[in-house]
Amino acid sequence: MRYETATESITEVVTDCVVLPVWKDGRLGDNAQTLDAALNGALSAVLASDDYIWESNDDRHLLHSPAGCVAGRVLLVGAGERDKCGPKEAAKFLSEALKAVLAGNMPHAHFVLADLAVNDIDINWLAARLAQEAETAAYRYVTTKEDKKREAVLESLSIPANSENLEAAMRRGEAIGQGVNRARQLGNLPANVCTPTYLANHARDLANDHKAIEVEVLDEARMKELGMGCFLSVTAGSIEEAYLIVLHYRGADEDTKPVCLVGKGVTFDTGGISIKPSPAMDEMKFDMCGSAAVLGVMSAIANLKMPVNVVGLVAASENMPSGGATKPGDIVTSLSGKTVEILNTDAEGRLLLCDALTYAERFEPSHVIDIATLTGAAIAAFGNEANVVMGNDQPLMDRLLQCGQDCLDRAWQLPLWSEYQKQLDSNFADIANIGGKHAGTITAGCFLSRFTEKFKWAHLDIAGSAWLSNGAAKGATGRPVALLTEFLSTLAETPA
Ligand code: BES
Ligand code: MN
Ligand code: ZN
Repeated sequence: MRYETATESITEVVTDCVVLPVWKDGRLGDNAQTLDAALNGALSAVLASDDYIWESNDDRHLLHSPAGCVAGRVLLVGAGERDKCGPKEAAKFLSEALKAVLAGNMPHAHFVLADLAVNDIDINWLAARLAQEAETAAYRYVTTKEDKKREAVLESLSIPANSENLEAAMRRGEAIGQGVNRARQLGNLPANVCTPTYLANHARDLANDHKAIEVEVLDEARMKELGMGCFLSVTAGSIEEAYLIVLHYRGADEDTKPVCLVGKGVTFDTGGISIKPSPAMDEMKFDMCGSAAVLGVMSAIANLKMPVNVVGLVAASENMPSGGATKPGDIVTSLSGKTVEILNTDAEGRLLLCDALTYAERFEPSHVIDIATLTGAAIAAFGNEANVVMGNDQPLMDRLLQCGQDCLDRAWQLPLWSEYQKQLDSNFADIANIGGKHAGTITAGCFLSRFTEKFKWAHLDIAGSAWLSNGAAKGATGRPVALLTEFLSTLAETPA
């Protein structure tokens, strides 16, 4: 897809479709009024009719071949109340308008963005968002199914050249959107395709595509030598080889400490011997969405040549029952030396992560963020809306919360109070891998906190945000690629 700024006036711009917001009071923005005058009031005539109330993005009107401008069509889209339009509403407008453009088979569209830059919404932010939304709106999962409707495509999007940085902003949004789509695609692939080996090869492909990315893959034999007993306990029942995949992105000078991103990559979670109930178990192919996000972020920052150093760790394994599988009550020794009593083999994500987190120490990171579809309790508490954040460094968490607000990939914090830690006491090992009945998202965070004492750390539980379960929308969301990319870009500007 091409993203361009157009220097022509709104009446002269060559495109299939000019897209304009209409506010609920039936008013157009300033640029749209210029166009309306050139079209002899053709837009006002639509607004004067009672056909629409312009309250939601579903209120749309398409004018064909309007006389007075070069564009083939003009699309009016309801934008709701002007005073209530903030970044979230503007982003929704863009995604809904893009869907209409796609559905109308208009490969070239021109968005009059300045008319949406109300209430202090920044025009550069809008430009980036337009490109991000365009990338994600155009994504279809087609790998393992026939492409039923011939897909509509977007070929180019333009916006008026009102200011200097718009093209760079659109490139940023494009890279983020592509990173989001990479995470969605990996998440959506079935578990018989997207195995730990597939993730390792995907990481190798990324390294081949980007000079600034290097990859190193630790196999089970290597992990055994290192003493990663927790990690290996998860893969014990699987015939697929497990891997700890390490990606290095070097965009800053050598002595800048890296950020480590650690992704849970359970390519299928049956629960193991503590087997899950059958309903919706297919969704456990999404249990690698944390590592998909790591790979999506690595590609986005590499495309942007972001001046940061990042180590991505992908903890890739299946969790299967078999004669060789780990049993409830088994005790294993983690890379840190702490012993863990595995009371429930379905609490496997934390077992992969604890060894990957200890492994992260060797990179002397400035910050470590793990990303994991860790607990069903996170869905019970927040549904699909929030990434849940916990950690041991409030400034780090505050920054993640702020970045989530700014890029609309929002997070909410839960407490890691010491009172919760007691739930992990074990009679037979240093620590149990599950707590009691309650506060499951927090006790999972508590477990990880035992392995993160040597660095500033945040944990993102994305069990709710990483995928949607229902109907046509079922599929991976690509969250929190946008949040993490935003975080890294603020870090490049203002180190924490
Ligand atoms: N991958 C699951 C968490 C999950 C479950 C995410 C359902 C999304 C939907 C994780 O490995 C798991 O099974 N967690 C258990 C932990 C429990 C055994 C302490 C859970 O949440 O039930
Ligand atoms: Mn599980
Ligand atoms: Zn899991």
